[in-house]
Amino acid sequence: MSDPHTHRVIPLQDLRPSALALPETALRSDLRITASALLADQRGRNLRDLRISVTDKCNFRCNYCMPKEIFDKDYVYLPHSALLSFEEITLLTRQFVAHGVQKIRLTGGEPLLRKNLERLIEQLAALRTPEGQPLDLTLTTNGSLLARKAQALKAAGLQRITVSLDALDDAVFRSMNDVDFPVADVLEGIEAARAAGLGPIKINMVVKRGTNEHQILPMAKYFKGSGMVLRFIEYMDVGATNGWRMDEVLPSADVIRLIQSELPLVPLEPTQPGETAQRWGYADAHGCHDPSLGEIGVISSVTQAFCSDCNRARLSTEGQLYLCLFAEKGYDLRSLVRGEATDADLANAIGHIWQGRSDNYSELRQAMGPDTGLPVKRVEMSYIGG
Ligand code: GTP
Ligand code: 5AD
Ligand code: SF4
Ligand code: SF4
Repeated sequence: MSDPHTHRVIPLQDLRPSALALPETALRSDLRITASALLADQRGRNLRDLRISVTDKCNFRCNYCMPKEIFDKDYVYLPHSALLSFEEITLLTRQFVAHGVQKIRLTGGEPLLRKNLERLIEQLAALRTPEGQPLDLTLTTNGSLLARKAQALKAAGLQRITVSLDALDDAVFRSMNDVDFPVADVLEGIEAARAAGLGPIKINMVVKRGTNEHQILPMAKYFKGSGMVLRFIEYMDVGATNGWRMDEVLPSADVIRLIQSELPLVPLEPTQPGETAQRWGYADAHGCHDPSLGEIGVISSVTQAFCSDCNRARLSTEGQLYLCLFAEKGYDLRSLVRGEATDADLANAIGHIWQGRSDNYSELRQAMGPDTGLPVKRVEMSYIGG
């Protein structure tokens, strides 16, 4: 019989898979890839966006991301020694930037839980693209610590911020974060970010049918004309613990229809190739976009996959390079950084790994039909970040 005190412990490797071996070519000195912004994967997609997870911990327990039943008091997080240090992150990021990365997003878990995060931001803010431009340096947060930290983040060189906010109604918000955290504190954090100049601020709302769809209109009205961009995200089958079901996904088309019924919208052109969100602008009385009313976005990875120009790489908290949000495993770059690798070795490994990439999970899942995700052991989002 199993011991009742151990049955809830999730075997570590279930949620944190072993790393993939580096491609054989990555280590060969006769097949060197020199860093260049022309790096393309198997589908011709360039590397532009690096998302760096700085902690696997979070003080929220959003059911779609870190359900309480699994991320409970027995859950074993990474030990500090396993995390990439700020110096290691910067060393690696420099090589990603040499390969064409222009945008860095710090994520978690909740990135503001990582001690002295401002020191990392200072180091990353000092990096320059090969053309001498600063990076687009941003961070995704649940906003709970933002009121306290906004000024320091800005002073360290953070340019802008994205805040996750799933409801304005306090009861709905408390139940979705599942730690009874009040919405007023997050709204205060958002105001502090605005006052600190961390704009343009984006607000991410994950929409779950039957949970917070009635918050769509109140959220749209609250942020309309605020200068902040509210984005509605389809609930995704990311990870393996959230019990995702298609009937809890509210397609973005329905979100747009609902908002249109009260607040007229017009479609806007993408600002950049490979963007996650489709943009819609609030219209004036003549049916034209009124920039003073602002815009919203919908991120429809379930109903309208956007893999075809996906330019995003993800670096996990312990230094594994993931090529897709839905990947099973990542490539261990930490062992290189902690070994004898030179900058050229790191650039070479990153180059070979990206060149071998062919991931397009959302497209494949869509082609298979709507009901299930593909039967793979997807990594948790709290581990590799959004
Ligand atoms: P901006 O530059 O601020 O527009 O950021 P972004 O839209 O690239 O990134 P953000 O992290 O705000 O993405 C919002 C949400 O989109 C994430 O929380 C995920 O839910 C989803 N998302 C982001 N990247 C991907 C991706 O590569 N694939 C899929 N399927 N979903 C993604
Ligand atoms: N579906 C969609 N988005 C998710 N996020 C986390 N889990 C999911 C999921 N299952 C995203 C949310 C949140 C960010 C940290 O991660 O956008 O704001
Ligand atoms: Fe934490 Fe963000 Fe995941 Fe919610 S979605 S549990 S705030 S990391
Ligand atoms: Fe990129 Fe994978 Fe998301 Fe497709 S599913 S957009 S390949 S991260």
